[in-house]
Amino acid sequence: MSTELLNISIEKTKSSKINELDWDNLPFGRVFSDHMFVMDYKDGQWENPTITPFADLTMSPATSILHYGQTFFEGMKATKSENGDILLFRPEENAKRFNLSAERMCMPEVPVEMFIEALRTLLNVDKDWVPAKEGFSLYIRPFMIAMDPYVGIRPSDTYKFIIFTCPVGAYYSEPVPVKIETKYSRAVEGGTGYAKAGGNYAGSLYPAMKGQKEGFRQLIWTDAKEHKYIEEAGTMNVLFVIDGKIITPASSDTILSGITRRSVVDIARDWGYEVEERKVSVEEVITAIKENRLTEAFGAGTAATIAQISAISFEGTTYELPAVEGREFSNKVLTYLTDYKHGKVEDKFNWILKA
Ligand code: COI
Repeated sequence: MSTELLNISIEKTKSSKINELDWDNLPFGRVFSDHMFVMDYKDGQWENPTITPFADLTMSPATSILHYGQTFFEGMKATKSENGDILLFRPEENAKRFNLSAERMCMPEVPVEMFIEALRTLLNVDKDWVPAKEGFSLYIRPFMIAMDPYVGIRPSDTYKFIIFTCPVGAYYSEPVPVKIETKYSRAVEGGTGYAKAGGNYAGSLYPAMKGQKEGFRQLIWTDAKEHKYIEEAGTMNVLFVIDGKIITPASSDTILSGITRRSVVDIARDWGYEVEERKVSVEEVITAIKENRLTEAFGAGTAATIAQISAISFEGTTYELPAVEGREFSNKVLTYLTDYKHGKVEDKFNWILKA
């Protein structure tokens, strides 16, 4: 275990909760591993890197994060290979995106090497929490919060960087019916849409709840100006197979640059598929559905993995999509990515890091 950069102090729990786990029944995001990593930012630098038992935080009611939402997060997964190694999938990409979010939210960066070291150290302490069974993994939640006990509006001077983990099963256990949202917006040009800012998710709850009342598990957001172009689904990026080509909205300042989406694109190109990353209009998708040229629609995200979209609703009409079993590309890429993350296929893209 390396503690070269950070000199992390480790206080282990005296009462592990691991024996309480029902490994075959892991709801997403409700069960937390024994330890967490915490580091403080003060006087312009990171200090006190510590691994402690997972516990509540205490803070002043005036703490900045509680009022103005100066916070952002990442989502990552660790898996266990057949020989017991703990594997991370493209963690440097998460670390880099973490710092993009930090910049946009006016918060301090965590150098990539520090981020990775904190993560690896935590994973080694809690390695028994990484599920071995296929379809399960250890979800990792790094995040940062503004800690100044100050009610005025300005960037905080103090922050906490925390990583905790939870053993999880599927985020979506079934194909998802989605609604194309044309009233509310998730992100605007010049806004924070490309960052994993907490507020992006808070702002989407009300329209998502309205969509859920109509029977849709998820919204597909459209551009805020004209509601003409498809953006993302909030919990995942979206991809379509139309006329045999893979078509997906390109990353932009209103769309999160999904690591799973980028990986799917790289794999598809490697397999010889034609891939178009560009603006995708709602009209193009709906027309392709009507003309039976859309054969697959799915989301891609860390938590969601590859989530099949069963139906798309637009302006009051719901279009059922082709049966999931017949979807050649997305089923194949899900199997390949799952195998890849478990170290069952060659790491040909150099995406795996052993914790
Ligand atoms: C992830 O995929 O890790 C995310 O951050 C999405 C979240 C809403 C669960």
